[in-house]
Amino acid sequence: MNESTFAPGGGQPGTTVGSVAVRTFESRRPDPNAEPRPAYAMTPYDDENDDLQDGQFYDPDAEYEPDPEYAATLAPDAARQRRERVGPTGRPLPYFPIPNPLTDHGPAKIVAMCNQKGGVGKTTSTINLGAALAEYGRRVLLVDFDPQGALSVGLGVNPMELDITVYNLLMERGLAADEVLLKTAVPGMDLLPSNIDLSAAEVQLVSEVARESALQRALKPLMADYDYIVIDCQPSLGLLTVNALTAAHSVIVPLECEFFALRGVALLTETIEKVRERLNPELELDGILATMYDSRTVHSREVLARVVEAFDDHVFHTVIGRTVRFPETTVAGEPITTYASNSVGAAAYRQLAREVLARCHAE
Ligand SMILES: Nc1ncnc2c1ncn2[C@@H]1O[C@H](COP(=O)(O)OP(=O)(O)OP(=O)(O)O)[C@@H](O)[C@H]1O
Ligand SMILES: [Mg+2]
Repeated sequence: MNESTFAPGGGQPGTTVGSVAVRTFESRRPDPNAEPRPAYAMTPYDDENDDLQDGQFYDPDAEYEPDPEYAATLAPDAARQRRERVGPTGRPLPYFPIPNPLTDHGPAKIVAMCNQKGGVGKTTSTINLGAALAEYGRRVLLVDFDPQGALSVGLGVNPMELDITVYNLLMERGLAADEVLLKTAVPGMDLLPSNIDLSAAEVQLVSEVARESALQRALKPLMADYDYIVIDCQPSLGLLTVNALTAAHSVIVPLECEFFALRGVALLTETIEKVRERLNPELELDGILATMYDSRTVHSREVLARVVEAFDDHVFHTVIGRTVRFPETTVAGEPITTYASNSVGAAAYRQLAREVLARCHAE
């Protein structure tokens, strides 16, 4: 069979990010009798068997630099065609390069993962975006800012067993961040865990001076050690979330691709606007992240089209599909990038990491 093996990172030796995709040249040749392809043919999510198979790819043009040998076999206008590929959001899909390695770290960009609606993928996106950024050599700190402690659980930590959490960091002056920090199984990614104690902070902070900037103060000494700090917010717009928005440089809003997705988003953008005006003039809306997308249903596609209509360029080109692999990773207590490294879900969060880094550099 006429095959070529692709190493991620343009086949550069030593880059071991993601899966090795095998493409079959035969299947890339246009078949004159074939049905016209849909504008965006994303590998469908197949929960039974969701590893990328030989000859199958998630989003090859965005995922991998073609190696020169392969590129030579493509039609001369392939580069133009690639530029004009339409992504799942209905817009041309840009190419997000594999980020260059860093020689030194910090100061951190702080991102709040925020939506007051429950169960939209905040915690899942925090863990997996963080893990993908760490794979690309970024030093990452994840902050569990939900008293439910789902982020901590998702990284294999039992929050009930913790004596010191992010709550203590907020409330106790003089406590060093090192005493609270936990290393995760992902190299380069640390965690500030939380548990139910944090729910008391919401009440106790009310009587404090500068109560909205308690988290900002707590994170300040850590900024120099990390490239990204991602805060997993609780599903509310209360004082804890306002603290996260005050500490953050930007916000990512995960939106589940279902009918009521846009409900409440106006309130969220209003809150972001207020925090920007009164507390944190640097705060920006980084992007809306469509999650739990099912390309096979008209409903998902319609919802996504409406989200793009409403938020235009603020919507990430990367869309996270619905797959049972994500709930599985919570049980396993690790990110999808290590639990199912070759899965479509892992590839999607790696692409999101590259998009986030590309946006950051474009600013
Ligand atoms: N892309 C996905 N496909 C399928 N299931 C998903 C996906 N993303 C998340 N889930 C599952 O949906 C549930 C809710 O996700 P998650 O906990 O990340 O949302 P959340 O916004 O953090 O929720 P909460 O508001 O309660 O904190 C979890 O069981 C998670 O495993
Ligand atoms: Mg959560």
